[in-house]
Amino acid sequence: MATKTELLMDVGKVREDFPILKRTVHGKPLVYLDSAATSQKPRQVIDAVSDFFSRYNANVHRAIYELGEEATREYEGAREKVAGFIHARSPNEVAFTKSTTESLNAIAYGWGLKGKLREGDEIVSTVMEHHSNHVPWFFVQDLKGVKLKWVGMTDDGLLKMEDYDTMITKRTKVVTVTQCSNVLGTINPVQEIAKRAHEAGAICVVDAAQSVPHMPVDVQKIGCDFLAFSGHKMLGPTGIGVLYGTEERLNEMEPLMGGGEMVREVHLGSAKWNDIPFKFEGGTPNMAGAIGLGVAVDYLDGIGMDRVRRHEKELTKYALEALSDVKGFHGFGLDDVERRGGVISFTLGDVHPHDIASILDVEGIAIRSGHHCAQPLMERLNVPATARASFYVYNTPEEVDRLAAGLRKVLDVFA
Ligand code: ALA
Repeated sequence: MATKTELLMDVGKVREDFPILKRTVHGKPLVYLDSAATSQKPRQVIDAVSDFFSRYNANVHRAIYELGEEATREYEGAREKVAGFIHARSPNEVAFTKSTTESLNAIAYGWGLKGKLREGDEIVSTVMEHHSNHVPWFFVQDLKGVKLKWVGMTDDGLLKMEDYDTMITKRTKVVTVTQCSNVLGTINPVQEIAKRAHEAGAICVVDAAQSVPHMPVDVQKIGCDFLAFSGHKMLGPTGIGVLYGTEERLNEMEPLMGGGEMVREVHLGSAKWNDIPFKFEGGTPNMAGAIGLGVAVDYLDGIGMDRVRRHEKELTKYALEALSDVKGFHGFGLDDVERRGGVISFTLGDVHPHDIASILDVEGIAIRSGHHCAQPLMERLNVPATARASFYVYNTPEEVDRLAAGLRKVLDVFA
């Protein structure tokens, strides 16, 4: 059994940096277990955003005065930090968007719909995807006559890798997959999937919304063509996301948003695009968001992503053991924490997940309940909804104990 002393991080010190963790909810100390939905923010990130507006707010890439140059320097510095964090070959491979959702839509539209896909082409996805990696491809399906296929899942929560053998054909142009399921925590073998895509001449698109915040991610090792993630799930501000693509793919992709700064020249009726990554950043970007994300990257680098991952593994192991002692607890997904992230979806007897979440809320415990924007996966699991606890750098075994105690209260209420 995982003991509390096995945690390798000084979580107490980390928690000091998160002002919100000092608050109470319904008179109880907050236990925040919904980081898969959005993470909390350390004061370093909050201060960086405030500092931008207090000291050097000006538009980037446009102004030649001092404030504009400072803003541009910090904004481009953030791009360099993000590129380094995911081991991109160059900052040119990183475009800022507003979210994972926008990044995936930009790929489906700009590379797929307006770019490379033709009627009769095929896209291989999985049943495990978040809606944001389903719906943009539905647009392509409906407007281009492209066929979608979905790799299945075992009862344990693993992708059926053998499905790729039959589903990837010479018509396959895109293979897309989540690196870590937001419901099950399953970590998928994206490197192997990218290899199989490339062998068939297809590209590989990775939804990394739940992986980049929680484990070391190296886009060159994965070998993917595109990868998408969000700032707000990795200690950064909301409204800032990342679209990673290799230079080759970004160059052959059309922009989703037309407007200022994404163009080199405009004439009545025609325009030429700016270089990558700027051609994907039409309009005034979320400067404070990008700068805040850069500071979030510094913060995570300061801990070390290996340690972040180890911390979450230990906590998940501890939680799976502690929660399985609660009568009626049914956890979904793998037992092996080497192959899953810090996300635990569960049911408790026949108590509705929304009731579980409401009663836990009274105890000061925040979890998510519902279909988690993954309805096809819920259908595969044969449940309408689950309750979900998810962990991050600031969570402790004591909070897991509070969750277990809270679930016992839920059972009392429904006894
Ligand atoms: N995608 C986020 C989640 O899983 C919002 O909760």
